Amino acid sequence: MSRSGKLLPSAVEAIGNTPLVELGRLAADVEGRILAKLEYLNPGSSKKDRIALQMIQDAEAQGLIKPGDTVVELTSGNTGTGLAIVCSVKGYRFVAVMSRGNSTERARMMRALGAEVVLVDQLPESVPGQVSGGDLALVDQETQRIVRERGAFRADQFELEGNFRAHYLHTGPEILRQTGGEIDAFCDFAGSGGTFAGCATAFKEHNAQIQCYLVEPQGAAILAGQAVTYPNHRIQGGGYSMPHLKMLRPGLINGYLQVSDQEAIDMARRLARQEGVFAGFSSGANVAAARQLLLGPCRGATIVTVMCDSGLKYLSTDLWA
Ligand SMILES: Cc1ncc(COP(=O)(O)O)c(C=O)c1O
Repeated sequence: MSRSGKLLPSAVEAIGNTPLVELGRLAADVEGRILAKLEYLNPGSSKKDRIALQMIQDAEAQGLIKPGDTVVELTSGNTGTGLAIVCSVKGYRFVAVMSRGNSTERARMMRALGAEVVLVDQLPESVPGQVSGGDLALVDQETQRIVRERGAFRADQFELEGNFRAHYLHTGPEILRQTGGEIDAFCDFAGSGGTFAGCATAFKEHNAQIQCYLVEPQGAAILAGQAVTYPNHRIQGGGYSMPHLKMLRPGLINGYLQVSDQEAIDMARRLARQEGVFAGFSSGANVAAARQLLLGPCRGATIVTVMCDSGLKYLSTDLWA
């Protein structure tokens, strides 16, 4: 039975419709409310299941792929996990190309779901667990080579509208339904910027006054126009120091917030201990950013943010003692 109480034909139909919960304990000492969308409850334990499904559905609708074809993705693991699920159910081969710097759970989970996983070495100066923009460039080269060699479809989340559409058509409207549209602000840590852009567009169409804040790592806040002094931050899944993100349309960003590694880690731990929300680094960053808003420009407001993926994905890291 799904969360909606209906029998579903496959795990793919269990993607989305995640709960929205109030983080009352973490907002107890500030004025205002923090609402968290529990995206780690998707079948692949992250919000990226949504874009995996949307990118494949869009490609099918455009006649670009048919069952039996090969799908390739450059991934930090979460989109790949979503694609592995969608591809196995729908009958596609799936190749995930990822940096060796990402946590090992991700590669193992994708293999378990039937994916072929290609691991790309990090730059000599990079640190495991800290994937930099340079590391990502190496993964991109390898992805392009595999796409050419195998005549595959590249499920490129930085390019394909499916990334934006998944959140514009579903995540954002779900939040509006779950809150009756009564939200004041939204903040989200950007990787591709798809979640931010899709949700922010849906929110602003509902009410142009909803303030949308983009979250970046401290020392790698390139979108805020700051110099990148700390590219190897620890907030996995984003903060890649890419100056232009196609998904981020003009007019969506009301402000920028920065979160340090330690703030993200401390908040991920507090989320687990105090709220029973077992999520990763970027979820910690999002709640730390939401608290910055309540302590600063959005005092007294209702802030919504996203619990991007599960804490289980970081058991091999020192996030958990
Ligand atoms: C754990 C995690 N957090 C945050 C993000 C960033 O999301 P988006 O690409 O929608 O900006 C990602 C994207 O891969 C992720 O895996």
